[in-house]
Amino acid sequence: MSSHNNSPLKILFAASEAQPFIKTGGLADVAGSLPVALSHFGHDVRLVLPAYPRAVERAIPLKEVASLRLTGALHPVRILEGKLGTNVTTYLVDAPDFFNRPGNPYVDASGHDWGDNPERFTLFCRAIVSIALNHAGLHWQPDIVHCNDWQTGLVPPLLAMEWNRPATVFTIHNLAYQGMYPRAVFDRLHLPAAFWSYQGLEFHDHFSFIKGGIAFSDWVTTVSPTYAEEILTPEFGYGLEGLLHHRADRLSGVLNGIDYEVWDPAADPALAQHFDYKTFNLKKINKLHLQRELGLPENENAFLFGHIGRLVEQKGVDLILDILPDLLEQEAVQLVMLGSGHVSLENRLRDTAEMHPDKVAVYIGYDESLAHRIEAACDCFIMPSRFEPCGLNQLYSLRYGSVPVVKRTGGLADTVIDATAKNLLDGVATGFSFDEPSAAALWECLERVFQLRSRPAVWWEKLATTGMKQDFSWDSSAKHYLDIYQEAMNNPAVNPLKQH
Ligand code: ADP
Ligand code: GLC
Repeated sequence: MSSHNNSPLKILFAASEAQPFIKTGGLADVAGSLPVALSHFGHDVRLVLPAYPRAVERAIPLKEVASLRLTGALHPVRILEGKLGTNVTTYLVDAPDFFNRPGNPYVDASGHDWGDNPERFTLFCRAIVSIALNHAGLHWQPDIVHCNDWQTGLVPPLLAMEWNRPATVFTIHNLAYQGMYPRAVFDRLHLPAAFWSYQGLEFHDHFSFIKGGIAFSDWVTTVSPTYAEEILTPEFGYGLEGLLHHRADRLSGVLNGIDYEVWDPAADPALAQHFDYKTFNLKKINKLHLQRELGLPENENAFLFGHIGRLVEQKGVDLILDILPDLLEQEAVQLVMLGSGHVSLENRLRDTAEMHPDKVAVYIGYDESLAHRIEAACDCFIMPSRFEPCGLNQLYSLRYGSVPVVKRTGGLADTVIDATAKNLLDGVATGFSFDEPSAAALWECLERVFQLRSRPAVWWEKLATTGMKQDFSWDSSAKHYLDIYQEAMNNPAVNPLKQH
C-alpha cells in the first residue's frame, strides 16, 4: 500500500506546542516539522495550536477567520490564521481567558500546573472538533485529524460521536503525561455522560484525557518502534498496557525525523564555525567558542561532554551527577549542561558548577541557540534517559558529530548503534549504549568511551562521522504516516461505547 502516490489528503495536525511558535520539548520540534514534511508530498496540511501570547507574537501577521461559540467558553473563541513555513496554514485558537497567559503553556511561574488545565485543553479539543467537522465556517473539512498527546485526547472520542467525522490518528509522545483528573473535574466539563465508563474515559476512578486518544482513535502511534513495544509492558505502560494490547493491531511505532534545515551544522546560524563530515576537524573551533562563552578554560584538546534537556527524572540527569566525581578525575575532561525543570536538580547542577568552575559549566534556563552551540561543540553527548519515547537530542548529536552515550531504551535504542568491537570494525557504530539505569552502568559505558578516545584519532573521527552520515530526515517517517492515514480512513475503528 502506498498512499503517497494517491490524491492529496486534507490533514489537520493538532498539538499543544509547535516550533517556531511555542516550545517546551520535543513535541514542538515534531509538530513544527512533520506537517511541513507532509505538505512537501503535496498534501493540504493545516496545524492547530492554542493562541498563547508567544505563539501569537511569532505567528504575526495573523488574520481572524472565524469566531466560534463553544461549550465552556464565556466569550466567542476566535480562530486566527497564520502560516508555518510557506505551505502550512496554522490556526491559533484564541480564547484569552484560557491561553493569554505569560510563560509556559502548562505550568505557572512557580512550576505548578495551571489549575484550569482540564478546562483549557477541553476547550482546545472542542475547537479542533469544530474545525474537523467543518462547523467553524472555514469551508474546509479534513480527511484526517492527527492528534498529539493528552492535550488533544478528547478529540477522538468527541468525533467518534459524529456520523460525518474525519479519520483520527493519535500519537503518544510520552505516556508518562496522561492528563488525569478526579471525577469532580469530569463533571465540570460538560462532556457526554457516557464518557464516564470503563470503555470510555474513566481510568481507576479518574478521568483520563490520554485514554480518549488511545481508546477512540482509528489508529494509535508512538514515536519509535521500541517504545511501541515497551508501552505494552507494566513498567512503561502505567496501567494503560491492557488497553494498548487491546488496540495492538492498530498501534505503530514511527520514528521521529528531524528538521534538516534547522539542524544543519553546515549552515546553522547559531554556530561560530560551520562544518560537515568532510570538514570534521573544523568542529573543534566551536568547542573553543563555547568554552569562552561559558567561562571554561579554552582548550581544544579537552574532552567535552554535553547534556541538554528537561530536568526531570525521565532524563537520568541524577546518574550524570552520580558519576561526576569519577568523570572529573579523568584528564582534561569538561562538562556542559543546559536545562531547566525540578528545582532540586537545578540546585544540584548549580552547586556542581560552583565547585568545579574549571571543568563544569551549567546554564539553567531555556536557550535554543545555546542548545545548537552545545551540540556543535561537544565530543560526546550524554543521554542516560530511564525511558525515552524517541528523543531528539541524540539525533541532533549524531548530525553534529557529538557522539551520543545513551541508555538502550525507546528511540535511543532504535537510533544509536553501539561501538562494540565488531560494529567499529564493520564501520557501522555511531555511539555508545548501556542497559541498566544505574550510575555503575553509565560509568562502565564511559570507560569504553575513554578507551576508544585513547586510540589513534581516526577511530573517533570514523565513529563521529558515521553518525553524521545517518539519515534521520522526515522523508521516510512522513511516508509511513501517510500509509497510516490511509489505513485509518479505509478502516474506521468501532466506537468502544457502541461495542458493548
Ligand atoms: P523531550 O521532548 O522529552 O523533552 P526530546 O529529546 O524529544 O525530549 O526533545 C527535547 C527538545 O527540547 C530538543 O529540541 C532540545 O534541544 C530542547 N531542549 C530541552 N531543554 C532545553 C533547554 N533548556 N534549552 C534549549 N533547548 C532545550
Ligand atoms: C516526548 C518524548 C521524547 C520525544 C518527543 C517528541 O516529549 O519524551 O522522547 O522525542 O516527545 O516525540
